Amino acid sequence: MKLWRLAAAIVLTAAAPAGAIAQTVKVGIINTYSGPFAGVGEQLDRGIRLYMMQHEKDLPAGVKIELIRRDDTGPNPEVAKRLAQELITRDHVQLLAGVVFTPNALAIAPLATEAKVPFVIMNAGTSMITTKSPYIARVSFTLWQSSYPLAAWASKHGIKKVYSVVSDYGPGIDAEQAFTKGFTDNGGQMVGAVRVPLANPDFTPFLQRAKDARPDAVFAFVPAGKEATALMKTFGDLGLRQAGIRLIGPGDITTDEELQNMGDVALGVVTMFHYSAAATRPANVAFVKAYKAAFGPTQEPSFEVVGGYDGMAAIFHVVAAQKGRIDPDRTMALLKGWKDANSPRGPIYIDPRTRDIVQNEYLRRVEAVNGQLANVELETIPMVKDPWKELNHQK
Ligand code: PHB
Repeated sequence: MKLWRLAAAIVLTAAAPAGAIAQTVKVGIINTYSGPFAGVGEQLDRGIRLYMMQHEKDLPAGVKIELIRRDDTGPNPEVAKRLAQELITRDHVQLLAGVVFTPNALAIAPLATEAKVPFVIMNAGTSMITTKSPYIARVSFTLWQSSYPLAAWASKHGIKKVYSVVSDYGPGIDAEQAFTKGFTDNGGQMVGAVRVPLANPDFTPFLQRAKDARPDAVFAFVPAGKEATALMKTFGDLGLRQAGIRLIGPGDITTDEELQNMGDVALGVVTMFHYSAAATRPANVAFVKAYKAAFGPTQEPSFEVVGGYDGMAAIFHVVAAQKGRIDPDRTMALLKGWKDANSPRGPIYIDPRTRDIVQNEYLRRVEAVNGQLANVELETIPMVKDPWKELNHQK
């Protein structure tokens, strides 16, 4: 048995290309693989896997990327912090990546700074996250990017009174504040606002209160996944639509992987977002095709898939540019200004000043396309920088 292993090791070493010293970059992935939000984490992981499948062969000779996955089980900052600590001190990862949830990103940020481990955020969307460590770069989105321009659109399209319903934590509060500012600056009126607990919420009392306030629209944010479906179903069950109240929000509330589960109540819901599986850009058509080939013909990639996918693209870029020898400061310099003209979501780049993503926002409406619900893109707001940072002169 032992001899076998030894022989195998010799063969593997001999197989390394001549002249190249094998260089393996360890990347610690902290993501949600269990609990009520496991579905969201699975989306993000599929993005990582798809990118690896397509591009592993493109790494420089002898250079490898080893992913070390850890499960934060949901929005649990203590768990995320412990996992990051272990990945840094025990596994000696050179990069950190992942995180669905804002509280987890915030818990990891000081460790990234202290240990100088670059941290690529693939989902968490609260604006101020990137200000918490110079070793953070974000490839995903912010809630301000979607909710602020949505407010301007709403105020110009017959919506005069809005009631806000958001999850009571970072991204929900960002969404509420971004929408409120954009809407009231454009002459709209907020007629109420509630913040709903993040864990196992029952939306009934909150949406009933919203209905009783008789707004033109409810603006809502909840994290993508099953919670978004629960919100949509309660909106339908309480008859808000029949009462003439529209539902609008960032695209998390009509997330592509759950859209078919939401049913017809989702028809007509207008959202602003950076990604839709239904987008007809050639890069997206190819991406959706590859996704279905890898994960099944009925599967739709959501924005979390794209976060994982583009996050790996950024990581491959820094690994290839350094031929696998990762220097933290050089890595951050490479991430600042990194761009992809052809992401499935359209052109993207990392703002070198803020280390945050710059991307198109699309105004979408849920429509039936070939018998399936789809987030159909109607308008494009090109290359939106995080408005929270722009308005507050934050780096
Ligand atoms: C976050 O915690 O930052 C977060 C989670 C899920 C989303 C959006 C933001 O859909």
